[in-house]
Amino acid sequence: QEGDPAAGETVFKKCAVCHIADSDKNKVGPSLNHVFGRTAGTHPNFAYSPAMKAAGTAGLVWDEATLRDYLHDPKLKVKGTKMVFVGLKDDGEITNLIAYLKQFSK
Ligand code: HEM
Repeated sequence: QEGDPAAGETVFKKCAVCHIADSDKNKVGPSLNHVFGRTAGTHPNFAYSPAMKAAGTAGLVWDEATLRDYLHDPKLKVKGTKMVFVGLKDDGEITNLIAYLKQFSK
């Protein structure tokens, strides 16, 4: 289903303490600029957990489905991730957030 990027920008406030989407800069978390199509754990100059690097090596690539799973329950999708975030329980919020993030993956 189509998400609403403007509504997703509001949801992104929950992420923005740790992530930037509109530039390549890393904060507490890796930049989410061009995250769609990225192999997990591969943004330059970020110290990922061993778990995230292993997930990428095993073939995890961020797309709508994998991001939805990860954002729903990060520690279930990538056991051992160091991302301290409970996850988003509302699928509509995730849909809007994905629409927002896609704008930075063109
Ligand atoms: C990793 C998204 C909230 C800290 C990631 C990754 C994504 C992501 C897609 C993997 C990126 C990659 O493989 O390059 C999000 C979104 C959030 C959110 C959309 C909000 C809904 C947060 C928050 C924090 C955080 C609030 C800090 C408290 C991290 C860290 C990693 C990470 C430290 C690296 C994880 C690891 O190496 O295991 N995030 N995140 N994130 N995020 Fe978040």
